[in-house]
This record gives sequence, C-alpha cells and structure tokens, in this order.
Amino acid sequence: MQILVTGGAGYIGSQAIKLLNQQGYNTVAYDNLSYGYRGSVNWGEFIKGDLSDTAKLKKTLLDYRIDMVMHFASYISAGESVENPPKYYQNNIVDSLNLINTMLSCGVNKLIFSSSAAVYGEPQEAPITETHPLNPINPYGMSKYLIEKALKVYADVEGLRYISFRYFNAAGADPDGELGEKHDPETHLIPLIFDALTGKREDIKVFGNDYNTPDGTCIRDYIHICDLVDAHILGLGLLENGVKTQIFNLGNGAGYSVKEVIDAVKKVTGHKIPVITTARRPGDSSRLVGSSEKARKILGWNPKYPKLEQIVSTVWQWLKTQ
Ligand code: UFG
Repeated sequence: MQILVTGGAGYIGSQAIKLLNQQGYNTVAYDNLSYGYRGSVNWGEFIKGDLSDTAKLKKTLLDYRIDMVMHFASYISAGESVENPPKYYQNNIVDSLNLINTMLSCGVNKLIFSSSAAVYGEPQEAPITETHPLNPINPYGMSKYLIEKALKVYADVEGLRYISFRYFNAAGADPDGELGEKHDPETHLIPLIFDALTGKREDIKVFGNDYNTPDGTCIRDYIHICDLVDAHILGLGLLENGVKTQIFNLGNGAGYSVKEVIDAVKKVTGHKIPVITTARRPGDSSRLVGSSEKARKILGWNPKYPKLEQIVSTVWQWLKTQ
C-alpha cells in the first residue's frame, strides 16, 4: 500500500513515516519544508511541495499510485493563530480543501486527518468524549472544526472515506533516539521546559496561574507520538476494511497542569529549572483531557507510553543523543 504523508518532515509526520515503513507500508512524504526537516525523512520517498500546488499534488498522487493519505501538514500553534488567523485559515482550511479536492480528482478517497482537541474549546466535562459539543475558541481550533465539517459533506456527497483523530497534546520523542520535537520557533510546553533546563532559554514561563484548576495553571492530556502514530496505523486498517467515517479522540484520559509537567521534568532529569509566571496566553482552554475509550474499543488501541514521566523520559533520552 502506498501512503502519501503530508507534513512528512514534521514532528509527528516523520515518526509516522518511520513506523509505517517498519510495518511494511510504502510512504511518500509531501512537505514544503516551511517547518519540517528533510533530514527527518529517512524512509520512503520525499517530495518537496506545497498543498496549494495542485499540479504537483496531482502528479505525486498519480506517479506514486497513492492509495491513502495521512494529512499531518498543518500550522499547530493555538496562540499564534489568535494573532494571525489568515495564516491558519489559508494553510489549514484552504490548502486542506485543495488536498481533498485533488485526491478525489485522482480517485484517491481514503484520508486520515489530524484534527485536534482544540475543536472542543472550553469543555464542559473531563474527560471529553467525541460527542461533546464543538465550540473552538481560537482560529486554530476553528480551522480543524471546519475541515471536520467539510469531511462529513465530502463523505456524504463525494464518497470520501476518512478517519479524523482529535489529538490531545502530542509529546515525547522516538524511543530509538532518532527523532524528536524541534519546532522553530518552539511554542510547546515540554520542549520549552527542556530548553530552560539546558540553558537554551533563560526560564520557562507559566502562562497564567489564575485558571479554575487546583494549582491555577492549565491542564492538558499528553500523548506520546508513537502511541498517536500506532492509532493512525490501526485507523488505516479500519479504512482498508471498508469503514466509511470515524472520529476518535487520542489522549490518555489523565490531565497534568503546567506546574505538574515542570515537576515531572525536574524529577526525571534531576535538574533544576528556572520558572516564572506570566500572564495568560490568549486562546488557551483551562483544561483539555480526553476520553479515548472509543479508540480503545473500536481500534483496539492500547498506548505504550501512557504516563507523563515515560513521555518526558523519551525526550530526555533523545536530547542526550543530540
Ligand atoms: N504553556 C506555558 N508556557 C509555555 C508554553 C505553554 O505555560 O511556554 C502552557 C500553555 O499555556 C498551555 C500548556 O502549556 O496551557 C500547553 O501548551 P502547548 O503550547 O504545549 O500546547 P497547546 O495545549 O496550546 O496545544 C497543543 C497543540 C495543538 C493541539 C492542542 C490540543 O499545539 O495543536 O495541544 O490539546 F490542538
């Protein structure tokens, strides 16, 4: 089976490519390298291309006889999306629609879409199930919400078959130490804590300690990227077996506050970390914790690294090899 992996040079896409190839799938990474790294794509084919480049997309889909697409390519920072909505709407909405239209015009009708817990907005319950109302509170979440809505219409009218995975906070590094998170600029909490630990930045800033949570800092559900990718590979099997559409949360059902994450890094590494508290970051939900019961039941998904300390340990191991 030939799989096109958009965003294949990115943090999650490159890990997916590695695991897919290890399991016997053929991959073609499609990435414009605006944030990804060519050096992270060590398996399968690589095409440098933009999702807005219809001709190149079409040629890639046809030349490589693509059977299915995993669409990871996306801007990912909720905070940045509040400051620059057009950037998110163009890339995450317009260019995603172009990908789907081009796929369908080439007879490729199977898609695995990287959605986000950000579609839930400020949730009314924890853990959140897939039936929870969708009410995104930032343009990033809105972009994922609108694509989910479009996917449903494409499925009803155009015969698209898809799985949408709503990620909670993807984290951790390749346990083999080959791949890890290196966004530039970095906005994610765990790599920033490590930057403060290694002296790459002066401190870790806690964005707000006046949320309605036990220690006042935001709570998130961290999921290891290999577990995340495992779910995609199981999803691929589901689509192969004829499933038309499905939506799954991918989280561990356990929430950790920003302070607890900092403490976990201190504990795993034994290092001190300079911490300062600053104002809230616009667009942040106070608490995002997901129920993944549905993924466990229907996909048979069973995370291998469900504990925060395991996730943090893989980052520490990877950083020591850098
Ligand atoms: N945070 C800080 N200081 C920092 C960076 C982050 O306190 O320097 C806090 C944030 O305010 C938030 C938490 O740490 O409360 C996690 O923030 P991240 O930026 O690491 O991640 P987000 O929760 O904002 O978003 C991530 C992904 C999204 C995804 C979302 C789903 O970037 O793509 O998780 O929960 F949608």
